[in-house]
Amino acid sequence: MSRRIVVLTGAGISAESGIRTFRAADGLWEDHRPEDVATPEAFEADPALVHRFYNARRAHLSSDGVEPNAAHLALARLEQEYDGDVLIVTQNIDDLHERAGSRNVLHLHGELLKMSCTECAAVRDAWPELGVDSICPGCGVSGRLRPHVVWFGEMPIGLEGILEALEDCSVFAAVGTSGNVYPAAGFVHVAAAAGAQTVELNLEPSEVSFGFAEVRRGPAASEVPRWVDEVLTNQ
Ligand code: APR
Ligand code: ZN
Repeated sequence: MSRRIVVLTGAGISAESGIRTFRAADGLWEDHRPEDVATPEAFEADPALVHRFYNARRAHLSSDGVEPNAAHLALARLEQEYDGDVLIVTQNIDDLHERAGSRNVLHLHGELLKMSCTECAAVRDAWPELGVDSICPGCGVSGRLRPHVVWFGEMPIGLEGILEALEDCSVFAAVGTSGNVYPAAGFVHVAAAAGAQTVELNLEPSEVSFGFAEVRRGPAASEVPRWVDEVLTNQ
C-alpha cells in the first residue's frame, strides 16, 4: 500500500474562519432553500437570484477577517512534512486550503472564485460580480456565464482520480463534514475497504461516523493540528 493520506474536508473546517456551514441551525440552508439557489433548474428559472447568492458568498470570502485557520494551516504543514503523498479533497468552494499553502487540492464541488461558460465551456477566474448580462471573454456570448460550482444533480469534479487515490491510500481522514451528500459521504467506505486507517474529525457525529475506525470530536482548529502533530511524530 502506498504511503498516501487522503483528507476529505467540508464546511466545518472553514467555520472558524467565519464561513457559515450549510446544515447548522444558523447555516446557509436555513436562509435559502438549496433548490432555489443550488440546482441547474434554479439557475434556469431565476439566474439573477442565483448570481446574487454566489456574488454575496464571493464578496464575503474576499472580505477582511476571512482567513485560513489553524486547521487549514496544519493540513498544509502535513503536505510539506509528511514522507508520502497528501491529497486534500474538499467539498468547499472557498480557497482557504490554497491560501494556507496546500498545493494538492481537488475541489469536488467546484470553486467560488472561478466562472464557467455554458456556451464555450471555458473556466476562468471569476469577476467579483457575475450577472445575467455578463459577457464571456472567450466566446463573446452574453448571459452564459455561471459560477464554477457543482449544484445538486450535477456531476462532482474529478471523481475518477479521487476514487483511485482512495483505493490506494493508507490513511483517510474526514474533517468538518456532515456526511449528508454523496459521493463524498461514501469515501470512508471505499478507503476502509482498501485497508486504510480511517479517522473522522468533526464537532458532532456525522451521518457516516459508524464507518470510521476512529472518531475525534471537537473544533477543527484544535483537533486537526493535534492530529497532524501525531501523524508527523509517528511517521
Ligand atoms: N470544527 C469541526 N467540525 C465542525 C465545526 C468546527 N468548527 N463546525 C461545524 N462542524 C461540523 C458540523 O458538526 C457538521 O457535521 O461540520 C459539519 C458541516 O456539515 P454541512 O453544513 O452539512 O457541510 P458539508 O458536509 O460540507 O456539506 C456538504 O452540502 O449543500 C452542500 O455542496 C454543499 O459541499 C456542501 C455539501
Ligand atoms: Zn464562452
